[in-house]
Amino acid sequence: MGQIIDGKQLAKKIQEDVTHEVAELAKQNLQPGLAVVLVGDNQASRTYVRNKQKRTEEAGMKSVLIELPEDISEAKLLETVEDLNNDVTIHGILVQLPLPKHISEDKVIDTIIPEKDVDGFHPINVGNLYVGKEAFVPCTPAGIIELIKSTGTAIEGKRAVVIGRSNIVGKPVAQLLLQENATVTIAHSRTKDLPAVAREADILVVATGLAKFIKKDAIKPGAVVIDVGMDRDENNKLCGDVDFDDVKDTAGYITPVPGGVGPMTITMLLANTLKAAKRIWDKQLQTK
Ligand code: GUN
Repeated sequence: MGQIIDGKQLAKKIQEDVTHEVAELAKQNLQPGLAVVLVGDNQASRTYVRNKQKRTEEAGMKSVLIELPEDISEAKLLETVEDLNNDVTIHGILVQLPLPKHISEDKVIDTIIPEKDVDGFHPINVGNLYVGKEAFVPCTPAGIIELIKSTGTAIEGKRAVVIGRSNIVGKPVAQLLLQENATVTIAHSRTKDLPAVAREADILVVATGLAKFIKKDAIKPGAVVIDVGMDRDENNKLCGDVDFDDVKDTAGYITPVPGGVGPMTITMLLANTLKAAKRIWDKQLQTK
């Protein structure tokens, strides 16, 4: 049996570090603030947002939730984002996706100032990550790198295969692995003989959104397997994109679902919010 990577425990440890730093800043009357904007009443989004709020407060940060109706106009939403851009008590802005169809997600993301873009979705942050400059890194990919490192596995020189090419997970995680000097392949739904490609991987990151899609024929013995999926199986039970029971004896390390990647995402959001706040305060000090 491969070793289970405990995302819950790692997330807790990193959150403790963030909480400690927030407490230190409070002594100087400084408090990082995160605003989350939720449009409409998608139940999954509501659950995610509630968890984000709870964890933000637990870390000692200011947490603001702005709830807007499903039929809000794009212009009104952009105005709300502008207000948050100008709000000195807010250092991180997150607009929960997906948005209703009549609103352009690109326009909304482009309106968040890059300095407060704790999701790392703004093209400026995406570009900075791509050229290796300081950038906000999307939370799930940042968490994945921490999970891999927690196994003690050196990433440098390893073959890494990422299955999935979304802007939120696949592309940025591939970029981060490249920065860590892995040899990276991005596979996707049109990849021919996917199991053969995946079997090359010392590090396999799976983000397909397809329940139990990856079986043991796609796993190199001893590989580190990171499962980004959050799916439901035939019995409506929560499961990942990797068939855990089929793969667990072949993998060297594997993240469970739930309890793997999921808990890390919010922790990295808090870490990004703290980073945003510190950068904004530093800049203010320099211009004084
Ligand atoms: N919806 C699902 N995941 C995310 C995320 O990481 N950020 C935002 N803004 N929306 C999401």
